[in-house]
Amino acid sequence: MSETTALCFDMYGTLCDTSSVTRRLGEVLDLSGVLTDAVDATWRRKQLQYSYQAAQMDAYEPFWEVTGRALDYALAEYDIDPTPEERERVVEAYDHLSPYPAAAATLEELGDAGYTVTVLSNGNPAMLERLAENAGLTPHLDDIISADEVGTFKPDPAVYENAARRLGEDIGACRLVSANAWDAAGAGNAGMGVAWVNRRRDPPEAIGPVPETVVDSLARLPDGLGRA
Ligand code: LAC
Repeated sequence: MSETTALCFDMYGTLCDTSSVTRRLGEVLDLSGVLTDAVDATWRRKQLQYSYQAAQMDAYEPFWEVTGRALDYALAEYDIDPTPEERERVVEAYDHLSPYPAAAATLEELGDAGYTVTVLSNGNPAMLERLAENAGLTPHLDDIISADEVGTFKPDPAVYENAARRLGEDIGACRLVSANAWDAAGAGNAGMGVAWVNRRRDPPEAIGPVPETVVDSLARLPDGLGRA
């Protein structure tokens, strides 16, 4: 594996915490805690499933739309019928996720250490730019690279390959940083380096290469990369 020169951070669940979406869902639709958690779990599951499905079916549409469709399914499953305005307010929570506490400081530290620091996400460019701005991450990023540029979603190797091309680097000199195990497996499968942020101490995916670097938080990433 070549030495890492560029870091590609996953956005949703890695730099930013998606749990604020759950709160917004419950508040806007006035749902009980139990119902909020149930709808939220289906929403997340379907968001991931629909992104895989869209890629497999060659039926790409931007992640914002995929996210909205996943919400529509989750609401239909529980017979919840929001107004268009309520639905919009729930989806818009994706523009206002909280960054993980160490996110900005870690990006800054790694930029200062000489790495090219980017986001590599399934989010479409407009939603990524809004979130990076609102979460205070923009000043610490050299670039934002979206799966939208190739019209498919991670873990399709084309997305990781496009990132390396855009960065003008060999794919082995780029490293994905992701808290999503499926994403870590996908990057490894495409030949990209991987640092898996395994906050919940999950086992690695049983498909795809095992990540070569594993840390339990973003704050530990600079150390983890030093050891790689
Ligand atoms: C990302 C999500 C889907 O690519 O984890 O940012």
